[in-house]
Amino acid sequence: PMIYFITPTHYRPEQRAELTRLSNTLRQVPNLFWILVEDAEKRSPGVAEVLARSKLQHAHIFSLTPADKKLTDKDKNWKLPRGVEQRNAALTWIRTNLAGIQKGVIYFGDDDNSYDLRLFDEIRAVKKVGVWPVGIVGSLLVETPVIGAEGKLTGFNSIWKPERPFPIDMAAFAVNLQLILAHEDVAFTYEVPRGYQESHLLSGLGISASDLEPMADHCSKVYVWHTRTEKSKLTATEREKFKSSNLLAVERD
Ligand code: UGA
Ligand code: MN
Repeated sequence: PMIYFITPTHYRPEQRAELTRLSNTLRQVPNLFWILVEDAEKRSPGVAEVLARSKLQHAHIFSLTPADKKLTDKDKNWKLPRGVEQRNAALTWIRTNLAGIQKGVIYFGDDDNSYDLRLFDEIRAVKKVGVWPVGIVGSLLVETPVIGAEGKLTGFNSIWKPERPFPIDMAAFAVNLQLILAHEDVAFTYEVPRGYQESHLLSGLGISASDLEPMADHCSKVYVWHTRTEKSKLTATEREKFKSSNLLAVERD
């Protein structure tokens, strides 16, 4: 099956570096289709260029986060969920363009995480919903489903909001394409509490904990890390330059 790798991405000084690093990973994966969704009002040439150079099959789409839902530099990063509009645009793209396609697995892969190539073998093997550990997230070294003696999922080790139906990160699961196609209205939303995007999606797909397929060798292996890039310090002049030219990254290539 094809892996549909959905990445929301937004303009910032580090964007080109993140996308370059991610494209260097993804280009090594066979049968991967990259759905790159810019948080912007149009496609930017710099992003198109990274995509073209990746040689990957891809869709380059965009969907702007409304101003009242957009975090500013001063906001705490947990104030509002990120990637909502962009992942929804990708789901719409999938339902429009992949109707009738039999085989596929959907994964929500952010532009700043770190991916072991072995993750993609796990994603591809997902039947319904696969789950696995994620490194350095939720105040833990490894946030993971807990697997009991018979290899069955018995719970989660999460300590942040463990009462969530699915206390897992966006990077911790992949979903079969058929499930997404069968549930036309399922989408991410601002109408749920912080940390409930994953639970909202999986519940909407009619999934319960017993449907989850523990992967990555009974959840004993970490193949994805929730790395985050430090915000770059810039002089006021550099910040201004950056704001005034969305093409800077291309011009300086
Ligand atoms: C955590 C989760 O790992 C994310 O999947 C989740 O979207 C996010 O929390 C959340 O609370 O919404 P975190 O590292 O805090 O991740 O989030 P970011 O990496 O800053 O953003 C997630 C994705 O959305 C990234 O691919 C980023 O480029 C994109 N994004 C971020 C936008 O498209 N627009 C923005 O304004 C900010
Ligand atoms: Mn991140």
